[in-house]
Amino acid sequence: MTAVQHSGEPKSNTIRQRLAAIEGIGQRTYTPTQVVVKKAKGVILETLEGRKLYDFTSGVLVTNLGHAHPRFETLYQQYCGELPRSSYNMVTEVEVEASERIIRSMKHGNPKAEKVLWAASGSEGIQKAMWCALHKHPDRPIILATRYGFHGKKGLAGDTTGCQSSNPNVRFISFPMYEEKPESFYQNELDTLAAEFPNKIALLITEPYLGAAGSFHPPKWYHKLLQRWCEAHDVAFIFDEVQSCHGRTGNMYAFETYDVQPDLVVLGKGLGNGEPAAAVAGRADLIDALTYGEASDTFSANPRACAAACAVFDVFEEEGIVDHCRAVAPVMREKLESLVERFPFAKAVRGEGLVYGLEMSDKITAERCVLEAYRGIDGMGVHFLGPLAEKVLRVSPPLIITEKDINAAFDILYRAWQRVG
Ligand SMILES: Cc1ncc(COP(=O)(O)O)c(C=O)c1O
Repeated sequence: MTAVQHSGEPKSNTIRQRLAAIEGIGQRTYTPTQVVVKKAKGVILETLEGRKLYDFTSGVLVTNLGHAHPRFETLYQQYCGELPRSSYNMVTEVEVEASERIIRSMKHGNPKAEKVLWAASGSEGIQKAMWCALHKHPDRPIILATRYGFHGKKGLAGDTTGCQSSNPNVRFISFPMYEEKPESFYQNELDTLAAEFPNKIALLITEPYLGAAGSFHPPKWYHKLLQRWCEAHDVAFIFDEVQSCHGRTGNMYAFETYDVQPDLVVLGKGLGNGEPAAAVAGRADLIDALTYGEASDTFSANPRACAAACAVFDVFEEEGIVDHCRAVAPVMREKLESLVERFPFAKAVRGEGLVYGLEMSDKITAERCVLEAYRGIDGMGVHFLGPLAEKVLRVSPPLIITEKDINAAFDILYRAWQRVG
């Protein structure tokens, strides 16, 4: 496999060549830039060649507090103290503290949040949440998932991702995307499934908004309809907040944004601000459907993950991160809309809080925009993920981004994208 190479980047190109020689490409999601980062601070990534990039990705919606956040790093070290790095066969106070903080952070918006299970990645959290519902009712094998969702690649998370499944027990239901149908359409779809599988449906899993499918944020009534239907049929309603948790949508959790009370909420990414941490929080009777060992694994609830989760909660409280996100969100939206006005290839903006999709005319143009943003102007650029759903640019900077940063980043885009045909 030949390595991605960019002119004028000798040091980065060498690293990219070494990478291509030693690692399988399956490890990585394709991005045309393949930026090689030397250091990162706040919303800025610095490349090996010393160029600076505004990070419009937060990793992949992970470092919500930005890179090397000083208060986070201090608190994290304090919570870590002299604890062991693994706690598989022991208990640490920081684990209990972090679990209690998760529940406290949810309780006012969702009284169903009672107990926690930890995981080491989002997809493992999804797997554990689904296990809970399936173990609670072993006689109900059917799993409902919203079509074109992304829950991960492994196990049941993979089975419920996309629009087709090799798992014969999975059925997909519609999610409003380009075309929003009347409520009765979605209700009928669910009622038909209830009639086809009486007392056989264990759970319904959805994302608050379809992220990987290209940023589709549904009307408020949609999730309420799903919740009502789940309650009426005693089906566990699982909200995949692996991506939306910790402030992304302008509330701490997207279940607050959409005003629903899921039975199980899965958290990931922002929970540890980069430390691998994920968790399921929800109804005690569902969490307790798993007994000793059924959801245990080597890294879940390790002290570093729990320390990071506690430090994240502290910084959110001390610095009003959610309020800040809400305050800068209109600036971000206005700037994104200005791109649609300026550039004929920028077609539409979808999103909320600090998570947006900018739909471009086609795949080639979208990739070109990612590259030109990276090349930037006068040593400064903007870092995007590779386009989602072929032609949608994900915009999800750290939540600490300021209005000044946003203005500066868009000034780069206004100029750099003039080079796009
Ligand atoms: C909504 C959502 N669910 C689940 C996952 C899977 O998380 P992980 O990659 O940590 O397994 C992701 C990852 O992008 C996600 O965005």
